[in-house]
Amino acid sequence: MKKYFAINRIMYLFPLTLTFMCYTGAAQIKPALIPEPVSLVQGKGTFVIDNHTSLIISSGSPELAALGNRSNEWINTLAGVTLPVKNKTTASEHSISLLLNPALNNLGNDEGYELSITEHEVKLQARKTAGIFYGLQTLRQLLSLSGEANKQQHSLPVVEIVDYPRLKWRGLMLDVSRHFFSKDFVKKYIDDMARYKFNVFHWHLTDDQGWRIEIKSLPHLTEVGAWRVPRTGQWWSYAPPQKNEKATYGGYYTQQDIKEIIAYATERHITIVPEIDVPGHSLAAIASYPYLSATGYIYQVNPGSKFYNIDDNTLNPADERVYTFLDKVFTEVAALFPGDYIHIGGDECTKYFWQQSAVVQDFMKQQGIKTEHELQSYFIKRVEKILKKKKKKLIGWNEILEGGLAPEATVMSWQGMQGGMEAAKQGHQVIFTPSSNTYLDLYQGDPQLEPDTYDMLRLQTAYQWNPVPAGIDSTLVLGAQGNLWSEAVPTGLHAEYMTWPRSLALSEVFWSLPAKQSWTNFQKKLEPQFKTLDAAQINYSKAAFDVLATAKLDEQKQLLVSLSTDIDNLNIYYTLDNTNPDTSSIRYTGTPVAIPKGIYQIRAQTFKGNAAAGKLLIVPREELEKRAK
Ligand code: ACM
Repeated sequence: MKKYFAINRIMYLFPLTLTFMCYTGAAQIKPALIPEPVSLVQGKGTFVIDNHTSLIISSGSPELAALGNRSNEWINTLAGVTLPVKNKTTASEHSISLLLNPALNNLGNDEGYELSITEHEVKLQARKTAGIFYGLQTLRQLLSLSGEANKQQHSLPVVEIVDYPRLKWRGLMLDVSRHFFSKDFVKKYIDDMARYKFNVFHWHLTDDQGWRIEIKSLPHLTEVGAWRVPRTGQWWSYAPPQKNEKATYGGYYTQQDIKEIIAYATERHITIVPEIDVPGHSLAAIASYPYLSATGYIYQVNPGSKFYNIDDNTLNPADERVYTFLDKVFTEVAALFPGDYIHIGGDECTKYFWQQSAVVQDFMKQQGIKTEHELQSYFIKRVEKILKKKKKKLIGWNEILEGGLAPEATVMSWQGMQGGMEAAKQGHQVIFTPSSNTYLDLYQGDPQLEPDTYDMLRLQTAYQWNPVPAGIDSTLVLGAQGNLWSEAVPTGLHAEYMTWPRSLALSEVFWSLPAKQSWTNFQKKLEPQFKTLDAAQINYSKAAFDVLATAKLDEQKQLLVSLSTDIDNLNIYYTLDNTNPDTSSIRYTGTPVAIPKGIYQIRAQTFKGNAAAGKLLIVPREELEKRAK
């Protein structure tokens, strides 16, 4: 067996599969890995990690040595042993070896790896340490999953994996402006991302409700801009700041904090892309330095009250002091963050205040700028020049297409795929992050069961979309990303709840080859992965197992309710008599349920056998009527 597994070129894997299927007879449980690897061939038996196992790190690379130590920590957490680290193996040794092998040519790209596990040896090879890192994440998952399958936390299945990512940019975004998240939480979020092979952390650092990055040359940004009056309740319906009310909610990251977080992310092969959102979404900056807006009003940082087109949250593109301000900000941002890109926002910039401002209108006339969209484009092009001087590339949300793209801009397409498609047609790089499939702040189940938010993104919808659409040059698709806006996300645990498991779906969409993506298989992997998330202390949602109700009126104006679940093969039972459903209640078969007059509510729940699989859903008649509109 060992002999066969020493063969590790992908072209040999097919005959190997046949050999093992014949040899093993009974089917092995396929490891529920997420994201699904390019190729996985399972053999028979296990590699047991125990006190006789050693960790072999054969190259002198300090990065690989560091990774070896980290992998020892991971193995210790899952298997309870610390392996002796050696630099070469003896023939008889039971070992896990990490090997940099620049000659590997079957890995698609530099993030790829080969993981070969026999009963005697685990061999992880890659061209670069990034590949070793991703192979180790797979190894960690295998260890965790087999621990669950065997109740034996220290074995790995005999398996041969060749793997590499589909997309170069596999991102998640966290908005730390609307709510502030501690340095420790940001690190944990990054650590959780790395487990699922994400490699870009887009850090939304500034917005109307808080400026979160220390800029030493502009101290008001954090003395003033990082703080707002405290509010709880429903975002956008909070009371505005009252006169003389103290701004006590908030916080910011010092440059030292940021350096620490960057180092932490770098160890996990994650690049941080900072976002400074301009020229709209700038109320926190304007509260700090009122000269930045054309209207010059004095504001407090917005606490989540209504303000759009009421308070001027736009920078003044006609004022040179604004560009001097931005130069200072981006000088410090560029010096801190080692990555190639800086995100400059560019989204949802109201043109209302520019239209009201005589200074702005005169400037447009002088410059021959005909529309406010062109003025926005002028502004973004100026920002691109500032970034270029600092050797950074500009990314903006798709609104930067309005009035003409800056020459080298990369577009992040959030209002569907269209903006990205258009940018690619103009020869620009794009990152797809359509709100319909990647916005993690949306409901993931029935609004009666889920925390308050505004639209719906079910697990299945996060899984079933294509981040490389037909009709454009696919080499311009840098990648894709999930976004967690935090208006309705006040705590770290809730941020995790909104992120997982939809980001398991995104991880597979971003990493796995299309032929390896299967919603049916993904669903089967979900419950084993929940145990892995539990072991990693990640808070996640099980909403995919709950019932979701939709309603409509038929031609006779009768109310009809349809019930569904994300997960297949669950039985839905319901009642109309205000009792809780059980398996003797009416089983929902797919035909919409008529709700006669006098019926007060529907109650529904999913079951697997006789056991409840999801939460009890209760939807009152008035709510159903609202949904039918
Ligand atoms: C956005 O959601 N405003 C990018």
